[in-house]
Amino acid sequence: MKIVLGPASKKLGESIAELTGLEPVQVAHKTFPDGEAYIRLESPVQGDHVVIVQTTSPPQDSRLIQLAFIADAVKRNGASKVTAVVPYLAYARQDKIFLQGEGISIETLARMLGTAGVDALITVNVHAENALTKFPFPAKTISAIPLLAEYFVKKGCKNAFALAPDKGAMYIAQQAQSVLGGEAGHLEKHRDIYTGQTTQKGKDFNVKGQTVIIFDDIISTGGTIVGAAKILRELGAARVFAACAHPLLIGDAEKRILDAGVEEVVGTDSVPSNASKVSLAPLISQELKALKSG
Ligand code: R5P
Repeated sequence: MKIVLGPASKKLGESIAELTGLEPVQVAHKTFPDGEAYIRLESPVQGDHVVIVQTTSPPQDSRLIQLAFIADAVKRNGASKVTAVVPYLAYARQDKIFLQGEGISIETLARMLGTAGVDALITVNVHAENALTKFPFPAKTISAIPLLAEYFVKKGCKNAFALAPDKGAMYIAQQAQSVLGGEAGHLEKHRDIYTGQTTQKGKDFNVKGQTVIIFDDIISTGGTIVGAAKILRELGAARVFAACAHPLLIGDAEKRILDAGVEEVVGTDSVPSNASKVSLAPLISQELKALKSG
C-alpha cells in the first residue's frame, strides 16, 4: 500500500504516512495560464493498493479535478486498487432533490470519481451517511467528533452540555456526549428551501450556568452557530464553544461567531484553517491500518 499526497491535503497526508509507515508518493502539480490543472506522480505505483489523500474544501471544483486526475494517473500507472481518502467531501449537502429541476450533485460526483478510477472512498462526517449508499463503489464515513470532544475534555470542559444546532446533528451531539459525560440536546432549525434562510428555536432544556459546546458537521458562513449562540445566551449558558468536523469558515465567519459570544471555534484539518486544532491523522491512520491488515 502507498499513499499519494494530494496537493490539497499534503500536510495531513504526510502525517498519515508517518503514523502508518506507508510510502508517500509526491504529486507534481501546476495550473496552466488558462486555469486548467496538471498533475504527475513522482514515483511508481505499479501493482500497489494506492490511497490518495485529497480534501475537496474550497476551491472545491479545482480540488475535485485534481483528485480525478490523480486517480486516473494512479490507475494508468498500474495500481491494483485506488482508495480515495477525502476528509471533506464537497457537494454532500445536495444529496436529494429539494426543488423540481435540480440534480443530485453528490451522486454525479461519485460517478465522476468512479469513472476516473476510484475503487473505494473514505470520508469524515459526511453530511448524510445515506448519500454514500448511492455511490458506484464502497464508500464509508468515519467520525471525528470523539476527537473533538477529547480536545474539550483536555481543556477542562468535562461534563459540558453537547448541543446540536438541529435534529439532524443530534447523533453528533450524542457522540460528543459519550466522551464529555454531560447532557446533550438539540435546537430546532428550519431552512427555507427557496431562500436558504434559516430560523432557529430553543427547546426546553436547562443550560443555565453551564458550559455548552455546539457540535455540527460543517461551519460554513457561521450563521447556524451565531443563531444558536444567541439562543444559549438567552437561556443563561455560562460559556459557549463551537466545534465542527469541517471548519469551512467562509469570509469573516469565525469573527462573527466570536463576536456572538462564542469563546473558541474548534475544527479538524479536513479544511486547513485557523480553527483546525484537531488533526484527523490518527483517526485516518487507524482506518488505513485496519484496511491494510484486513
Ligand atoms: C447543515 O445542515 C449543516 O449541518 C450545517 O449546519 C450548515 O452547513 C452550517 O452552515 P452555516 O455555517 O452557513 O450556517
